[in-house]
Amino acid sequence: MAPKNRLFLGSFVHSKALDELEYLHNAVVCVDTSGTIVAVERECDEARAKEILFPRLGWDMDDVEVVTAQKGQFFFPGFIDTHLHAPQYPNVGIFGNSTLLDWLNTYTFPIEASLSDPARARQVYTRVIRKTLSHGTTCAAYYATIDVPSTNLLADLCLAAGQRALVGRVCMDQFSPDYYRDSSPESALAATCESIAHIRRADPSMSLVRPIITPRFAPSCSVPLMRQLGQLAAETQLPIQTHISENGAEIATVKKLFPPSATSAQDDSYAAVYDAMGLLTERTILAHAVHLTEAEAELVAARNAKVSHCPCSNTALTSGAARMRWLLDKGIVCGLGTDMSGGYSPSILAAARHAVLVSRHRAMGRPGAEGEREKLSVEEVLFLATRGGAQVVGLEGKVGGFEVGMEWDAQLVGLGMVDEEGNAEEDGGDVDVFGWQGWEDMIPKWVYNGDDRNTKKVWVKGRLVHERK
Ligand code: GUN
Ligand code: FE
Repeated sequence: MAPKNRLFLGSFVHSKALDELEYLHNAVVCVDTSGTIVAVERECDEARAKEILFPRLGWDMDDVEVVTAQKGQFFFPGFIDTHLHAPQYPNVGIFGNSTLLDWLNTYTFPIEASLSDPARARQVYTRVIRKTLSHGTTCAAYYATIDVPSTNLLADLCLAAGQRALVGRVCMDQFSPDYYRDSSPESALAATCESIAHIRRADPSMSLVRPIITPRFAPSCSVPLMRQLGQLAAETQLPIQTHISENGAEIATVKKLFPPSATSAQDDSYAAVYDAMGLLTERTILAHAVHLTEAEAELVAARNAKVSHCPCSNTALTSGAARMRWLLDKGIVCGLGTDMSGGYSPSILAAARHAVLVSRHRAMGRPGAEGEREKLSVEEVLFLATRGGAQVVGLEGKVGGFEVGMEWDAQLVGLGMVDEEGNAEEDGGDVDVFGWQGWEDMIPKWVYNGDDRNTKKVWVKGRLVHERK
């Protein structure tokens, strides 16, 4: 069925600034057949929209789909997961007491290698896309594996399901097991180019799915491989994703493997290595950034590279508590990542909650104003989950909010209204709203107690991609 023009009615909530949510009530948002927002009006209803807006938009009165947020429901921008590993999805929750380097060898490389089986890859990737969409993730920056056909399949499946995505074929030619590594920098580069070409053919306008250059992390990439990937990024202007400064043993490995004599970097810091390889750019997504030094953070800021904060993973693998306030104060653009399966949760709403909690752990033991400053607010983590994420993945101004010219990547959130007798009027999961508690209370209730039961409908570029039954 051809898409219709759509009129969304009700309450809309989105981020206006890092620490400010905007509430639009009794509002309408008009979305055209291409999925673009063409009008936003406050204090408006269907009749008034038809009278005032439709003539201006040239819309046919009788050929419009109307979607109304009911009482206890609101529209919110779709979430952006700026860092996750699709092939690791079967492993969520399985990490025992491991830390990064033994976790990679024990759990992660075996599961990724197993996805070169196309049937298995199809099963896992279908599931991870469905699962993240059901949690309101309208855009995801995915790492796939070193296997090209299954990486390409992931991109195809995202396109078919309608999830916006960046899909990266993972590069790793050293410091990795024999059964799961690139045999040379040249073969890694060729495989990367093959996957890029496929994704470009699959979505020529790159309106939904884009390729992303993916050196796994410095330890698993040789200097020649990193240099060639940096060059490729410069030539193609494609985005880059990698990991940085997640764990102490990892950082020590970088220092050992990449002395300045080997890289011509200014020093042996993790960020300087990437910079010397041409991998620290404004289109680079750096996952974790837990233990950056002052000089490294300055370098990241100077290059305008972006950071994906992964609080669930950083806690699960006991990597550390990233200094989010410090990064934000430096003007570094940040978003949130689930980092499945380093993180166990598929939900960016949960990542937002975890970001709040981790910031409070940072506040503990830092009395007074310094501790208070560490705390991230509900408003701030929702910004990171939407607008911040959009900046991280290069989609600023295109998604992450409700503004004319942006695309309709959105979720309809429903909270559980409870009547006088205490009976739930709809399935609000763990969110019970007694009477009416006002919007300033509803949103934190959703952040702290919400889950996919509250995600009633999800759209990407105007297309309905998930509906909770
Ligand atoms: N560093 C290198 N590879 C990985 C990975 O798959 N997950 C995480 N969390 N860190 C990594
Ligand atoms: Fe990761």
